[in-house]
Amino acid sequence: MPILQPNFSLRSLNTFGIDAMADLYLPVREVADLQWLHSALKTDPALARLPRLILGGGSNLVLTGDFHGLVLHSCSSGIALVGQDTQHSLVRAAAGVGWHELVNWTLERQLGGLENLSLIPGTVGAAPIQNIGAYGVEMERHFHSLTAFDLQRGTLFTLDRSACRFGYRDSIFKHDWRDRAVIVDVTFTLPRHWTPDLRYAELAAALATIATPTMQQVSAAVIAIRQRKLPDPAVIGNAGSFFKNPLVSRVQRDALLAQHPALVSHDQPDGSTKLAAGWLIDQCGWKGRALGTVGVYHQQALVLVNLGGARGADVLQLARAIQADVLQRFGVQLEPEPTFV
Ligand code: FAD
Ligand code: EPU
Repeated sequence: MPILQPNFSLRSLNTFGIDAMADLYLPVREVADLQWLHSALKTDPALARLPRLILGGGSNLVLTGDFHGLVLHSCSSGIALVGQDTQHSLVRAAAGVGWHELVNWTLERQLGGLENLSLIPGTVGAAPIQNIGAYGVEMERHFHSLTAFDLQRGTLFTLDRSACRFGYRDSIFKHDWRDRAVIVDVTFTLPRHWTPDLRYAELAAALATIATPTMQQVSAAVIAIRQRKLPDPAVIGNAGSFFKNPLVSRVQRDALLAQHPALVSHDQPDGSTKLAAGWLIDQCGWKGRALGTVGVYHQQALVLVNLGGARGADVLQLARAIQADVLQRFGVQLEPEPTFV
């Protein structure tokens, strides 16, 4: 029988390194643990009333204080090849598997597709939540389906790609299924005839001297770029990009460009434009600066870092100051990327 643990420290379970406690903690290793919880919620009204936090690697979270609720921690394991035809291989991984561990597992078997997403922290189960993306590829491209547990009904269900309503750092799990669906496993479809995706200019430049890079070489190049730009959470607490890159109309972008000719933007297929939030923050002079215990990373202004002993309130204070400056200078509202708890 699973054991609910009271007064559980979340300090080592969030990459920002915020010291906060959870009233109750439940490691989730298998579906039976969720079924047990569902029965317990039906018989214990006090437990059922508690807020819930579904936790993976804690790499996209800001704990604003102690969590007076129940933490369900993804601790499942297992990766398997579950199908293959002439065109695709299907790989299924449990929610608790580390994302980069999955990428390595596929590359060791010459199954390409996820290499541009190398070294993204966190778990497989969290990858669909914001449709993780990097270096020109978003997870949805290789997503096949997932299984999730409905905490309200106590049943498992499957969703395919269109049902997940993936968008830029978005999915149905941030909306209709929020805090109700626990993702249990995710299945990926990987091409049998792999070609590299080098549309991201910085990645193409890093591989320019190799005529036909292998999937391992693409992965190594992505890892090198990431290690150069992003702080390692094991050394400096952070949650990756703190804000999303804002999507604005091309009319608004053109007006901004007239005033700021160096503005960095990328046109999107739907007619909108994505502005580089890091550039906007950098221009406001925030790069390398700090407010108390929280700073703006000196290599990447989109990343906020824990300078030691940061509390949730300190993070919020700096985030709000940055948002206010960017709004005042560029008329653009920055939206945080991590989940605030
Ligand atoms: P957590 O932080 O534990 O949770 C994130 C959200 O997902 C929460 O809302 C949580 O409730 C929910 N959740 C987690 N597991 C489940 C589950 N099984 N079922 C239902 N809901 C669940 N992201 C990118 O997209 N691209 C990047 O390039 C990138 N780079 C990063 C670099 C660094 C240094 C860091 C620290 C973060 C980076 N991130 C990036 C953000 C982060 O790695 C991803 O969002 C990742 O998917 C979060 O996984 P996690 O397991 O840590 O999720
Ligand atoms: N820039 C600056 N100053 C800065 C930071 C960035 O001028 O301090 C400019 C750069 O010069 C570049 C542009 O902004 O021209 C974009 O920067 P970068 O390539 O570093 O990417 P990003 O837009 O800041 C996004 C994702 C990252 C992802 C990278 C690579 C978001 C919110 N962030 O960052 O994802 O790894 O692209 O694809 O979309 C995350 O989500 O946590 C994350 C790290």
